[in-house]
Amino acid sequence: MATINSGNKTTRSHSHHHTSFTRVHHFAALALVAATFFLTRLFDHSISPCSDANLYTTPDDTVRSRGYANLKIYVYDKDEIDGLQLLLSGRDGKISADACVKGQWGTQVKIHRLLLQSTYRTRKKEEADLFFVPSYVKCVRMMGGLNDKEINQTYVKVLSQMPYFRLSGGRNHIFVFPSGAGAHLFKSWATYINRSIILTPEGDRTDKRAISAFNTWKDIIIPGNIDDGMTINNPRLVDPLPLSKRKYLANYLGRAQGKIGRLRLIELAKEYPDKLESPVLKFSGPEKLGKRDYFLHLLNAKFCLAPRGESSWTLRFYESFFVECVPVILSDQVELPFQDVVDYSQISIKWPSTRTGKELLDYLESISDNEIEEMIARGRRVRCLWVYATESKSCSAFSGILGELQKKVRQFHQSVETFWLHNGSLVSRDLVEFSKWKPPMPLP
Ligand SMILES: *[C@@H]1O[C@H](CO)[C@@H](O)[C@H](O)[C@H]1NC(C)=O
Ligand SMILES: *[C@@H]1O[C@H](CO)[C@@H](O)[C@H](O)[C@H]1NC(C)=O
Ligand SMILES: *[C@@H]1O[C@H](CO)[C@@H](O)[C@H](O)[C@H]1NC(C)=O
Repeated sequence: MATINSGNKTTRSHSHHHTSFTRVHHFAALALVAATFFLTRLFDHSISPCSDANLYTTPDDTVRSRGYANLKIYVYDKDEIDGLQLLLSGRDGKISADACVKGQWGTQVKIHRLLLQSTYRTRKKEEADLFFVPSYVKCVRMMGGLNDKEINQTYVKVLSQMPYFRLSGGRNHIFVFPSGAGAHLFKSWATYINRSIILTPEGDRTDKRAISAFNTWKDIIIPGNIDDGMTINNPRLVDPLPLSKRKYLANYLGRAQGKIGRLRLIELAKEYPDKLESPVLKFSGPEKLGKRDYFLHLLNAKFCLAPRGESSWTLRFYESFFVECVPVILSDQVELPFQDVVDYSQISIKWPSTRTGKELLDYLESISDNEIEEMIARGRRVRCLWVYATESKSCSAFSGILGELQKKVRQFHQSVETFWLHNGSLVSRDLVEFSKWKPPMPLP
């Protein structure tokens, strides 16, 4: 009885041998996808599914076997926690998931939906390794469903009803913040969820706030949500052009938004109009650029420049892989997803944003078409990692996220207010057994 948890886990992995195998297979496939491309640099030790899935097993099973195969994630239900419904559909309950799944912030809905259908989902909190707190607040806020103050208060209310959040101090709880604001969408994030696992495309937001909500050692960078028309649908919105047919060396498509880096590119395009395309695009109003037109522009250059905008991440970086231009990152603080398996120097260029000028164009011009083709070819094979496809696809944004989440699993996920006794009972500072903890929980 000393190792209650490992007992459970063992039983599970025996009775679900088949699923486990499929899962190991997924994980191995993901590793192999990466391994195939970056063989020389990252994966000189070959990865075998078996050794990976049972990394630390000891004969008596006191050490729980680690591997993505055993990952169990609990997804909170909107009806189980008072207030959670508000974070999903606003104070009047009128905002729909279908409305929120569109556009670059759709990841907040897509990840939730993928987890609901996932074989890694558990319906038993007591056996969960990690807990997912669904919320579509970016969308709800954009659509006027909640204001900042309500969002903040609702989060606090929701968290105060979760004994498991109290138990771990939030360390095994997962939140998605799909926009540049990252966790700042929840004003008091630093007080309440600064130990939790945050999934966000945003690595840096120090331009507007004193501190970044992203912590590279605990949080996970996720790919932005690319239009399904370029990733999943068949036929795709547009098909890539052969290099020789592309009119421009490089392009930048987007609004200037008064950002220095972007304004500099627009100036540069005026100076070198035959090399750099940077048209003034209308993203709203009667001359609004259609989705397809946007991609038709994007595919007409060998290099797609991705300057920092309102924040450090840009969707353009991910889109580049689907029109097959080489992304050039001009965003010094950028953080990219799946750093454990992807070597970005093989598939993109990161150039100092302070040297955006003719020097950049000269440099790009010096790269041969052969070298460009090779980078594009490598990018073509990794881009499955940016696609929020169903779990049945072994390489997808979701498989990448599961791989990263696996690394966050701990046998010890306790808060400073959590204690345990000789018989495995978890208790509070007042020695009240965990099963008797009653919401509202003291926070943080
Ligand atoms: C967020 O809500 C909590 C609880 O109501 C409150 O204590 C805190 O001051 C709020 N934060 C902000 C920035 O309003
Ligand atoms: C996280 O929250 C704890 C408890 O409120 C606080 O002591 C700590 O300073 C916070 N850390 C950050 C980075 O805000
Ligand atoms: C563990 O021991 C404590 C203190 O003796 C006792 O109150 C508690 O009921 C025990 N728990 C279990 C699960 O036996």
